[in-house]
Amino acid sequence: MYKIAVLPGDGIGVEIVPEAVKVLQVIGEKFNHQFEYTEALVGGEAYDATGHPLPDDTLKICRQSDAVLLGAIGGPKWEQLPVHLRPEVGALLPLRKELGLYANLRPCFLFPGLTHASTLKEETIAGVDLIVLRELTGGLYFGEKSRQEVEGGIKATDVLSYTTFEIERIVRYAYEVARKRRNKLCSVDKANVIETSRLWRETVMELAKEYPDVETTHMYVDNCAMQLIRNPKQFDVIVTENMFGDILTDEASMLTGSIGMLPSASIGGKVGMYEPSHGSAPDIAGQNKANPLATILSAAMMLRYSFNLEKEAVIVEQAVSKAVAEGYRTPDIMEDGSKPVGTVEMGDVVAGYISNA
Ligand code: NAD
Ligand code: IPM
Ligand code: MN
Repeated sequence: MYKIAVLPGDGIGVEIVPEAVKVLQVIGEKFNHQFEYTEALVGGEAYDATGHPLPDDTLKICRQSDAVLLGAIGGPKWEQLPVHLRPEVGALLPLRKELGLYANLRPCFLFPGLTHASTLKEETIAGVDLIVLRELTGGLYFGEKSRQEVEGGIKATDVLSYTTFEIERIVRYAYEVARKRRNKLCSVDKANVIETSRLWRETVMELAKEYPDVETTHMYVDNCAMQLIRNPKQFDVIVTENMFGDILTDEASMLTGSIGMLPSASIGGKVGMYEPSHGSAPDIAGQNKANPLATILSAAMMLRYSFNLEKEAVIVEQAVSKAVAEGYRTPDIMEDGSKPVGTVEMGDVVAGYISNA
C-alpha cells in the first residue's frame, strides 16, 4: 500500500489534483496497487479555515505519507497577509524545508503532438528533451529578510547564501541524472557578479573531476535565458540555484507548449512532493479550463521516484502523449482542428487510455 497526502490547495489546485488522483486510481486498479489518499488543507484555504496556511495536521499527514501530491497555492485574496501567513512563504517554503526537498526536478519534454501548440518555431523545439535540477531549500528564498527605515524611505534586505554542502548535494544529484541521460551537464550561475555563484562554480569544477564521463559546461544565467529560446536542444541537464531555477523553468515551459505541461518532483528527503510547476492560475480558476496534464505528469513522477513503479509511470506518460497526439486540447494548448476539452474531460481521456492500454 502506498500512502499519498493529497493537498489540492487554491485556485485551479482543486480542479487539477482530482484529475491526477483519477489517473492514479486507474493505475492502481490495472496493476493491483493500493493507493491510500489522505486529503489535507494547505495555502489560502487552510488559512481561511484554521488561521494558518500550513496547519500542524497537514505537516503531520505529509510526514506520515509515502509521497505528497500538491496542486497549487496562493492568490489575490491572500496577498495582503503578513508575510509569514502568506501561502507561498508560510506554507510552500516550510513544506519543502521540513521535508528536506533540496532537489527539484523539472523535465521539459515536448510531446510530439504539441509541436504546433507552442508560440515558438517548430524547428526550434521539435525534439526538446531537457531537465532542470533546481536547488530548492537554499538561496534567496530562505535567507534572512529584513526591513528598516532609512532616510527618505525604507530599506529591504534578502540575504543570499549557499554552503558548499548545499551546492555539492544538488550538483552530485544532477551528475547522477546526467549519467542516466545524455551525459551533459550545464551549470548555470552568475559567477561574474555574485559571490554565491562563484562558490557554486568552484564547487562544480571540483565535482566535475569525479565525473569525467559527463561533459560539464558553465553558463551565465542571462545567457542561459536566451539560449533556451535560441537553441534549446543544446541542453540535456541544467543545474542551478533556487531563484534562477524558478525563473528559467517558467521560461522553459514554453518549449513544451504551455506551463500547463510542466511537471515537477521535489525530492531529497524521506517523503517526495509532486506538483505542477505552475501556480494557482486565479485568472482561469473555477472554469474547467486548466490543463491538468502537468499534475498528471507529476503523479507519474511520483510513481517513478517515490514508489519505484517505472512501468506504471511510463504508461501514464504514454497516455498523456496519446491524448495530445489525438488532438485533445485544453485552451492553453489549443490549435486549429483540435478537439477542445476541459480539465475534467482531459483527465477522463488520459484515464481511459490507461485502462484500455
Ligand atoms: P500561474 O502559474 O498561476 O499563472 C500564470 C499564467 O499561466 C496564467 O495566465 C495562468 O492562467 C496560466 N496557467 C498556469 N497554470 C495553467 C494550467 N494548468 N493550465 C492552463 N493555464 C495555466 O502564475 P501567477 O499568475 O504568477 O501566480 C498565481 C498565484 O499562484 C500566485 O499567488 C503565486 O504566488 C502562486 N504560485 C504558486 C505556485 C505553487 O503553488 N507551486 C507556483 C507558482 C505560483
Ligand atoms: C514554484 C513557485 C514557488 C517558487 C513560489 C510560489 C514560492 O513559483 O514552485 O515555482 O518560487 O518556488
Ligand atoms: Mn515558479
